Amino acid sequence: MLRKYLQPQRYVRRLQALTASFSKPITDYEAETLTEFVYQKTVAFNRITSLDLGMRSEHMLLAVSIALEEKLPGTPCRVLDFGGACGVHCKLVNLLFPDVEVKWAVVETASMLRRARALETNSLKFFEDIDSAVAWLEGVDLLNSNSVLQYLQNPLLTTQQLLELSPKVVLWGRLMLAKGPTFVDRQRTMLFNHGPGEVVPTGFRNRPILNKVTKLSRDDFLSAHQARYRLRCEAEEHGFSTYLFSRR
Ligand SMILES: C[S@@+](CC[C@H](N)C(=O)[O-])C[C@H]1O[C@@H](n2cnc3c(N)ncnc32)[C@H](O)[C@@H]1O
Repeated sequence: MLRKYLQPQRYVRRLQALTASFSKPITDYEAETLTEFVYQKTVAFNRITSLDLGMRSEHMLLAVSIALEEKLPGTPCRVLDFGGACGVHCKLVNLLFPDVEVKWAVVETASMLRRARALETNSLKFFEDIDSAVAWLEGVDLLNSNSVLQYLQNPLLTTQQLLELSPKVVLWGRLMLAKGPTFVDRQRTMLFNHGPGEVVPTGFRNRPILNKVTKLSRDDFLSAHQARYRLRCEAEEHGFSTYLFSRR
């Protein structure tokens, strides 16, 4: 019984987290420390050989399954991953569908691209703009964007631009939406909570990250889809929304 309470390592870890939360924050998504941290975590994550169900992969499972419907055998599933960091969701799909050929284009910031390009393969490529990504893909079966819209200047405009590409399936993960009109807010997270997996790469100090976030009006977001998309499922978790749409 006493052993349950006397766990000094637990208290040391809590104290470290508390001390870290008072250190100088990283202030934007271009920060090299953050991109290096995410890159190194992804390199470690890419080594796993079986699926971690804690990653909430059921949304992706459903999205890719719908995207694959009516696809001719031997043709790749073409995915545009907007803000896809170092390609973690591509790895997830490779684990979920080991026999499916994918063509995966990530659109990212210049800072993320500098690191991520080292992870390119024949089926995973990184681009700085949407047009180049789509030119390589030659069409989009699935648009995936996980926790990105809120970090953009104009999330509605980007939503509309991406929907103009007419992807067959659209999966928006972990969105920060507003119940009323669109508004600007601030978000505070910790560096060690970023990137895929639980392994913390060595040589990093945990620090706060401060970001400006634009919480797009949920009504405007849904209206942008109304004419051409059918809502297939939605999930709400800890203030983040996930939506899956398919083309009508
Ligand atoms: C919270 S992270 C999510 C990363 C990844 N989608 C995931 O689920 O792990 C937000 C991502 O959006 C990217 N991002 C921010 N602004 C962007 C922009 N204008 N165009 C493309 N990506 C952007 C960031 O570089 C970062 O990788």
